[in-house]
Amino acid sequence: MRFQAILLLPLLGLSSARLEPNYTSSSGVSIFNPSDFFDPTGPWSLMSQAGDTLYIAGMRGIYPSNSTLAPVGLPRIRQAFQNMATLAEMVGADLNACVRLVVYTTDMYRYRPMCNDVQIELWGADANKYPPRTIIEVDRLNQDDILEVEGTFYVPRAGLCG
Ligand SMILES: *[C@@H]1O[C@H](CO)[C@@H](O)[C@H](O)[C@H]1NC(C)=O
Ligand SMILES: *[C@@H]1O[C@H](CO)[C@@H](O)[C@H](O)[C@H]1NC(C)=O
Repeated sequence: MRFQAILLLPLLGLSSARLEPNYTSSSGVSIFNPSDFFDPTGPWSLMSQAGDTLYIAGMRGIYPSNSTLAPVGLPRIRQAFQNMATLAEMVGADLNACVRLVVYTTDMYRYRPMCNDVQIELWGADANKYPPRTIIEVDRLNQDDILEVEGTFYVPRAGLCG
């Protein structure tokens, strides 16, 4: 409950300002690296938008406030999903606008149940509201992390009156 309240906070500021892309290609692909988030750890960006589709980079459980990792386990996984949600909210989407999730984890048995718990916290208990998900066990993630989530969202540009 407390977590959901925290998540909704960024939504309150949305109506006033729309996030400006850092770059828009000639074909109309917009790239976003919002300054009030952690900096990408390499030659990649946090989000892109093409038409009505928003692509968010694989998110891990890094605190945007100080770029450190949340404690291993549930807090780390929760932070990864929260980072994805925060970025989506910055461009006017929310979790129910998610059309697809891909989750990478280094231990399916240990972390898949935690991932499920976090998703139930975030999306609620209605089994009809969960986005389609692919979850894959991998050998290694950056910084020997445990889980990374990649979300794709539907963000109709017409619906954003910026
Ligand atoms: C992206 O744009 C934001 C402002 O919207 C700016 O603060 C930030 O520094 C930019 N990022 C890069 C990598 O230029
Ligand atoms: C980083 O920020 C998080 C959340 O704001 C906090 O819980 C954590 O203690 C901070 N870590 C460090 C090393 O400052």
